[in-house]
Amino acid sequence: MPIMAADHELAQKSTLNQILKRGELRVGLDAGYMPFEMTDKKGDIVGFDVDMAKEMAKAMGVKLTIVNTDYDGIIPALMADKFDIIISGMTVNQERNLQINFADPYIVVGQAILLSKKHEGKITSYKDLNDPKYIVASRIGTTGEQAAKRMIPKAQYKSFEKESDGAMEVVNGQADAFVYDLPFCAVFMAQQGGANLVLLDKVFTYEPLGFGVKKGDPDFLNWLDNFLTQIKADGRFDRIYDKWIKG
Ligand code: ARG
Repeated sequence: MPIMAADHELAQKSTLNQILKRGELRVGLDAGYMPFEMTDKKGDIVGFDVDMAKEMAKAMGVKLTIVNTDYDGIIPALMADKFDIIISGMTVNQERNLQINFADPYIVVGQAILLSKKHEGKITSYKDLNDPKYIVASRIGTTGEQAAKRMIPKAQYKSFEKESDGAMEVVNGQADAFVYDLPFCAVFMAQQGGANLVLLDKVFTYEPLGFGVKKGDPDFLNWLDNFLTQIKADGRFDRIYDKWIKG
């Protein structure tokens, strides 16, 4: 096949092309990871990632559809073409990257700890929790769970279906600590921490967050990386950052 024809065929197959033809960008996310994606009082899904997705759809000239998907199954759902892209605060790690591609990271976070207030001053790092007498909680299928199991292996580990349920376990005195991404921990602390929690905000993992797409689609990745470069330089990214994270 002549090279130009092969290039053309690849471009036709790109998710990007399918989105344009359909006139719709389908974004997979799991609402519950504040402040990136969560359900507001009216029942709408809002947050940092949602605003990024809106900018993305606008730049493509298509409408946006959010597909709320359980985090534990979000990579299989992408691969089964339930949506075009994962924009869900997903940490780019090497295991996931064996299955899917990631655009350049848009922000870097790390694991932090919501600690029961009864341990204030006595436990000052994840290392102090590494003891069978402590119960550590996180959410299934996340890097929080991985960090708890790998870096605090001697503690008892309790897994939750939703991040808020895991954090509530500490508020209710049923766990000693909740391990999760710092932005979530900071918002949770501000909302319900006061009386029962202490935030240990010194992150102990390195976690770049990136958009996840199917493998073998250089056209889509190229568009996404250039989109990111542009919004980071022209103020759109800063506006979204200030709205959801800085505040
Ligand atoms: N960054 C963490 C991870 O990749 C947590 C992301 C959770 N995202 C969500 N939408 N619930 O595992």
